[in-house]
Amino acid sequence: MLRLAADTLPTFSLNAPVIQDILGHAKPLGHHEEPDNLNLGFGFLYYGLVRALRPRHVLVIGSGFGFSVVCLALGLKDNDKGRLSFVDPSFSVLKDGPFKTMGGTGQWDTKERVQSHFTRFGVEAWITHHKLTSQSFFDNYEDRGLPCIDIAFIDGNHAFRQVRNDFMSVLRHTHKNSYLLLHDTNIYVREAIGHAGVKRWLSIVSGHQELFEVIDFPFSSGVALVRVRRDRAWEQIDDASN
Ligand SMILES: C[S@@+](CC[C@H](N)C(=O)[O-])C[C@H]1O[C@@H](n2cnc3c(N)ncnc32)[C@H](O)[C@@H]1O
Repeated sequence: MLRLAADTLPTFSLNAPVIQDILGHAKPLGHHEEPDNLNLGFGFLYYGLVRALRPRHVLVIGSGFGFSVVCLALGLKDNDKGRLSFVDPSFSVLKDGPFKTMGGTGQWDTKERVQSHFTRFGVEAWITHHKLTSQSFFDNYEDRGLPCIDIAFIDGNHAFRQVRNDFMSVLRHTHKNSYLLLHDTNIYVREAIGHAGVKRWLSIVSGHQELFEVIDFPFSSGVALVRVRRDRAWEQIDDASN
């Protein structure tokens, strides 16, 4: 390998001060992180997935303080390639109640606030925020001029039907070897009382082995990684699965 002079080395964003900033200001909620030793937990996975796969288009649905968005966008920045669409209506648990959001704090209310939040991490140019629910966003996806989705991170409303709808809507814009991450696969109390249905939906997805490869990381709030095995996979799933 050609050795580059130190002052011509490509960017590698994940140094200790940046990690400290992510943990302090993009505040992970249940990503198996460990702030005391600067461990981003699943954040390393999100960043690493983007570095390894070099996606053109990453989509994030829902984020409390932008942890997933920042880890994924830093990967794009270091790849010097790709773009990230971030869809979040900026619900707040205090204003909108626990059936609209858990962990939402109205972070994304204004353009200025969104811009300054992501500027802190140097990733503002890689991110387009859509202040919409995922349903409204997908209602006219075709008009938005966006490419296919190579990696998606689904972490919006966790009710079973919403997770299913988000997964199916994302899937319609994927291709063979797109990857979908589903956060909160391990929040069993909320699953048990019917307030969340991520694990339940994941078990249906896992049943379609011809269409998907699934690996779950049931640590902290849990995250699952799903590989789409076929083009037009959505045509082969019964939309009414429940
Ligand atoms: C912390 S995140 C994700 C949920 C959290 N991990 C949990 O355990 O419930 C909360 C964010 O999801 C967003 N959100 C809620 N419903 C949404 C929807 N239908 N589409 C997109 N984002 C949504 C909220 O605005 C909020 O900013």
